[in-house]
Parts: sequence; C-alpha cells; structure tokens
Amino acid sequence: MAAPKAFGVALELFVRHCLAGMSKTFYLTTAIDYTNSPPHIGHAYEKVLADVIARYHRLKGDKVFFLTGVDQHGQKVQQSAAKAGVAPAEFVKGVTQKFVELWKKLDVKYDEWAETISPRHKKVVQGMLQRLFDAGQIYKDKQTGYYSVRQEQFLTDKERGADGEFGPEWGQVEFREEENYYFKLSQHKDWLLRYIDHRKDAVIPDFRQTELRNAIERLSGDLCISRPRSRLDWGIELPFDKDFVTYVWFDALTNYISFAGYDPTIDNYEKQPQEFRDRWTNEALQIIGKDILVPAHGIYWLIMLHAVGFPDDAMSQLLVHGWWNISGAKMSKSLGNIVDPNVLADKYSPEAVRYYLMSDIATGKDSDFSEERLIERYNADLANNLGNLLNRTLNMAHRYRDGRLVSSADVEFADNSSFAKLIQTDVEQYFDSFAYYLVDDALERATNLAQLCNLQIEVCAPWKLAKEQDNQRLDQIFFGLSEALRIIAILVSPVLPKAAHGIFDQLNLKIELSGKEERFALKDAEWGKLPDGHVVGKPVPLFPRIETN
Ligand code: MSP
Repeated sequence: MAAPKAFGVALELFVRHCLAGMSKTFYLTTAIDYTNSPPHIGHAYEKVLADVIARYHRLKGDKVFFLTGVDQHGQKVQQSAAKAGVAPAEFVKGVTQKFVELWKKLDVKYDEWAETISPRHKKVVQGMLQRLFDAGQIYKDKQTGYYSVRQEQFLTDKERGADGEFGPEWGQVEFREEENYYFKLSQHKDWLLRYIDHRKDAVIPDFRQTELRNAIERLSGDLCISRPRSRLDWGIELPFDKDFVTYVWFDALTNYISFAGYDPTIDNYEKQPQEFRDRWTNEALQIIGKDILVPAHGIYWLIMLHAVGFPDDAMSQLLVHGWWNISGAKMSKSLGNIVDPNVLADKYSPEAVRYYLMSDIATGKDSDFSEERLIERYNADLANNLGNLLNRTLNMAHRYRDGRLVSSADVEFADNSSFAKLIQTDVEQYFDSFAYYLVDDALERATNLAQLCNLQIEVCAPWKLAKEQDNQRLDQIFFGLSEALRIIAILVSPVLPKAAHGIFDQLNLKIELSGKEERFALKDAEWGKLPDGHVVGKPVPLFPRIETN
C-alpha cells in the first residue's frame, strides 16, 4: 500500500533535512594578500586566526572548507616587478612562494589556494563582468580632472589641503581625460541599507556594522572598474573591450566564489552547483582587516553579489579584525618597522608565534606587537604554567603511583569545589568565546584551568600525602589533574596543534592517532573519559623556557 501523501511529503522533508545537515560545510575565507612584497606579521595574524577558527569548527565535528590565497594583479605588482627588473608573472611567482612557505611553517591548513592569475579565476571574473555588462550594470564614461599618478586615482576637491593644493602624499598630479568602465554601484544603495538593517550580525563586531552603515549612507557615485591597457597591462582583460583590464576589486573580491565552485554562466543562485551552494551560505565567514571593510567588502562586494543574483539569505558574514601596530604606529616599509613572521618562527618556534598572535589581541581590536611580550607570554602561560603542570603531574604520578590512574566520578579541590563542575563551566565559556571568535578569551579558559591545577598541587602537596600514605587522595588528585590536562589539550589544539599532540602523547592517549587532527574532539572535553587503570607516559619538556640575557 502506498504511503499517505502527507506522510510521503514529511518523509521527503526529513530526508532532505538530513542530507542538508550532512553536506553542510562551514566555509571561511581570508583577504588575499598583495604579492608586491613578502608577508609580514599582519598577514600572518589573519591567516592564523582563520586557521584557528577552521580548526575549532573541525574540533566541533563540522565539515570545513577554508580558502586563502594571494592577490597577484595590479599596478603595485607591475611597478614592483619593473623595479626588480623581472616580468610581473615571474615576480608574483617568487612572492607567492614566500606566502605558501610561511603558511606551511605556521601550520595554516587551508583547503583551497586562490591565485588570481589562474585561468579558473579569470573565467569567473570575465563571466561576471559580461553578465553585468549585458544587464546594463556596467557602462563606459569619460572622466576629466586631476589625477594622482602615485595613488592611481582621480582627485576631487576633498583631497586638497588647507592651502588649496594637493599634498605631497599624492606625488605627481596631472590633468587627465580618460575613458573607463563604471559599475552602477549607487543604484543598489537602498538595497544595501535594507539588507544591513535587516541582518544585525552582517558584520562582527557590532561597532564595525555601525561604521559600515554610516558609510553606506554617504555612498554616492559609481565604481570605476577598469584601467586602459596602455597604462596597466597586468590584469584581467574586460571581456567586452580588450583595450581595458579590470582594476583591483572586481578581480580580487571574486576569488571568494571563483575558488568555491561558482559557475558565472548561471544567474540563479538556486541553480548553482550543489558543491558551491553547500559552501556559500549566509554562514560563510569572511575574515578581513579593518582597512578593507569600507568600501571594499562592506559596499562593493555585497553589492556585486546582489547585482549578479545572490539572494539576501545567501550573503556571507564579515568578521573584521584589528591591526597589529608597532608602538602605536602603522607598520610600513618607509618606517622600516616591518616584522617578519619567518624570523620569529625560526627564533621562537611556529607555535610560540601562533600563541602570541592569538592570545595578545582581542579579535576586532588593535594591539601593539612586541617581541618582549611574545617571550613574556610564552614563558608565563606555556612554560611556567601549562608545561609545568604537565611535567609535575606526570612526574609525581609515576613517583608515587607508578603512573597508573584510578578513575573517579568526581574529585574535589581542597576548597571542596568540584573538578568536574569547574571543567564543565570552563568548556562552556570556551564555547561562548568562540561563538564571538574571541580566541584570546577561549585560550584564557585553558590557561586558567592549568593555573588552578597548579594551585591545587601547591595546596594538596602530594609529596606530603605520599609521606602519609594517603593513596586514595593521591589517586584522586592525579586523576583530576590528568583529566584537566587531557581537556586543556583539546581546548588549546586549534591554536597549538603540535603541543596538544605532545600532551596526548605524554598522557599516552589515542597514540594510534598521533599527529592526526581527528585525535581531538570537543565532545570529549568532559569529565571522566580517562579509563580506569590507564597508565600515563613519562614527562618530556614541552615548552622549554625562552631564556633572555
Ligand atoms: N589584496 C587586498 C585584499 C583583497 S581581498 C579580496 C589587500 N591585501 S593586503 O596584503 O594589503 O592585506 C591583506 C590583509 O592583511 C588585510 O585583511 C589587511 O587588513 C591585513 N593586514 C595588513 N596589515 C595588517 C596589520 N598590521 N595587522 C593586521 N592585519 C593587517 O588588502
């Protein structure tokens, strides 16, 4: 007998729901870095932040697709290549390699690598431009006015100084008349305002959404999207006029969809390949620095997506991070204060750099970079606190109880509070911190727990308990401390994957998965998972102190 129709529909919905749940992917992207000079600490921060968020989602059991890459076209690259006396293609190859090597060194594990010179990307950029041109969204116009050769832009009276002149920052300024192509940006202003007002978390943190909203209110005029080939050759040719290349943003921003499987010939989002729709949902998270929210991502990008047919419920979310400064000032080549993450990683270890970059800045805010702080935090939080806890726990467990653990339903601290409860609260707070991408807060949960455990050792003094032959209390203490260490390892694993493996190795846990990310799962971050009778390993120093003279 055939199933009643309503039941059939419910079943189909249920199956669809399950399938959707199964295939749902957490998609995250970063800004793609200019390849006119090698990576600095700001680039490293953003990519490590994205890697940590990606690892956190995998820890939760989510399927993740993490895209990062490089922005290879444009005037600056063309100029840097000319200065170096090599062709732009060769020049970007060299710089790109430096980025790839750095991400490998810093353990930034991405799923797809975006290079804007790739044919796959060019096809999507040109496809989108053609569609917008056919739809009357792109037009040709002539612009006449003062033009800054150095900054590559037409200047308006707003750029004049108090003396009515254009300042030295603009370099050589000349009067120009130039034809270019324009995208009808301002036509979409009302839509963008509505969208932003409707989605309160379109941009995180909140104050950046407010900043964006104010900027949209002021939006006027359209966006110049081309440069005549005679001036700029290193770019993607406009599909409808081979005398022009597309300039900066249409090329760069499109990477987010071109490397995720977007088909530019299909104007309906619903008809895009399933693989793309699994990735590109309203939960796709785009991590960018504060300098490229307005106007690039918050205005140009959202309007571009809207104009090529993305519905409002398929708009990505923007996570805007702050900047690392040097003594309050911007890092810059001219000031000679660029910090090279390669040098730091070689000197202190890649994980020391990851830890510093994740623990000494609040996501969304700025911070001052200081090598002394890096050393200070590493020594205090990792060497003296977590490393010491691991070392003492394993040492004493072996000395007093042959390394064998006796499982316990719960263990009390000296003040009668419960280890299990404390751990549960800590894990919940860790979860909350990550919900707002506050990685520094999340890390603090783990280091606080380690600190409490160290304190516990001081208060309980296992060496005294051993003298008194209070084996029951000793067993309780070592079980509690080992459980805490196991959970701390899980919690720090997104930031310190190697150290987390080190802790598990020494605890003698899941050895068959050593080195593999699957070894850690957030669902295991709860009390009581160490088996009764488990024998822990011998301690090996995990975070050797950084000595400074
Ligand atoms: N190529 C463009 C982005 C195109 S995205 C489609 C670009 N490149 S960049 O190399 O200048 O910057 C790349 C990212 O690094 C940006 O998100 C930027 O905010 C970030 N940072 C650059 N300097 C930084 C610091 N000093 N501190 C933290 N992040 C910084 O813009």
